[in-house]
Amino acid sequence: MENLNNIVNTGLRGVTVANTKISHVDSDAGKLIYRGYLITDLAEKTCFEEVVNLLLFEKLPNPEELRQLRTHLAAQRAIPKSLVASLKTCPADSLPMDILQAAIPLLANNDPGAAELTLEKSIDTAIRLIAEIPTIVCAWHRIRNGMDPVPPDPDLNHAANFLYMLTGEVPDEQTARFFDICLVLHAEHSFNASTFSARQVASTRAHMYAAISAAVGSLSGALHGGANTRVMRMLKEIDESGDMDEYISRVLNSGGKIMGLGHAVYKNGDPRAKILAPMSKALGQSIGETRWYDLSVLLEEKTKALFKAKKGLDIYPNVDFYSASVYYSMGIPMDLFTPVFAVSRIAGWAAHVMEEQFAGASDKPALYRPSSAYIGDYCGPAECPFVAMDNR
Ligand SMILES: CC(C)(COP(=O)(O)OP(=O)(O)OC[C@H]1O[C@@H](n2cnc3c(N)ncnc32)[C@H](O)[C@@H]1OP(=O)(O)O)[C@@H](O)C(=O)NCCC(=O)NCCS
Repeated sequence: MENLNNIVNTGLRGVTVANTKISHVDSDAGKLIYRGYLITDLAEKTCFEEVVNLLLFEKLPNPEELRQLRTHLAAQRAIPKSLVASLKTCPADSLPMDILQAAIPLLANNDPGAAELTLEKSIDTAIRLIAEIPTIVCAWHRIRNGMDPVPPDPDLNHAANFLYMLTGEVPDEQTARFFDICLVLHAEHSFNASTFSARQVASTRAHMYAAISAAVGSLSGALHGGANTRVMRMLKEIDESGDMDEYISRVLNSGGKIMGLGHAVYKNGDPRAKILAPMSKALGQSIGETRWYDLSVLLEEKTKALFKAKKGLDIYPNVDFYSASVYYSMGIPMDLFTPVFAVSRIAGWAAHVMEEQFAGASDKPALYRPSSAYIGDYCGPAECPFVAMDNR
């Protein structure tokens, strides 16, 4: 029997569970690489659709491939009428991530080939989901506010379409491009919690809709995708109280977390945060409200100093820290920040599901089935004598 005292709840940190060609997080160098390309290059020089092509087809597209992908996405963006009708029956205060998680299996019901486990069908499902998830998020937001969903516009790219379907207005060029960069930055991040959830479900040979629905549930958690909404709530709380020092000491002294700071993998800074910070500043300047950027910078500086003094450790912003003020400045409602994360991350999730199910024989991962240490101590070392119902 295993020595139970040796089992530590490390959340699988440091345990390598599969090979992947999709992305690499270089924690020491603070680099993120999608299929060989640095995130800094991709954010500056590509659009989300090019990154989708890179993640799904293992190459940056040429102009014709990009045109074809855009056509395919445009053809899939509208969601089934039956799904819109179902959304209309949901209570208006339903959490958007719950709605998204519930909607994905309903998309499977409208896809006659959903259960077909071939690479060709998985690519088709991936593109359907990448196209449909933004439409679901926007449709739900409008329905819960008593408005009709805005149909997608085939002339707009993926990023601009999202903002258009959300508000009914075509976004200005800077906002659309910044949102596009946000989608590029959030598209993939190796074996994070939600991606691992997707892969774990895919390893059972369940179909892609089942795997993606599980990933959405995982992303909804406060320590994962839910952090960006909490960052904005925190900034608002600090703004209202006007006492940032008190806020930081209260949270740190009570063992709480300053949202958007720290990372399970990057210990020397998250490269995505470095791209998002200037975007937050520029957006704030363009709307004439830099308060959220300014507060973020000050909070980062003060927490860093106190953290170093208390723990002797450096702490850096993660992707959620500045994306909160970026999304807020774009007018995206706070409770949609995490669904927006899913709008982008679906590209990475889908690539991982396909890798899990269709990698070459030598790389094909097995069904995930970890071990656990049983520490149930109900009747001492022996099994419990069974107690009949009348004697309980
Ligand atoms: C992401 C996160 C879970 C990583 O945690 P981790 O893997 O334990 O990170 P580390 O090992 O570097 O943490 C070292 C110490 O700093 C603490 N710490 C890390 N981030 C912190 C934060 N944002 N606020 C306060 N304390 C923090 C940890 O609790 C740990 O304390 P301990 O030594 O007393 O146990 C953590 O940083 C966090 O909860 N951040 C806030 C939530 C967030 O922004 N999530 C989005 C991630 S992309």
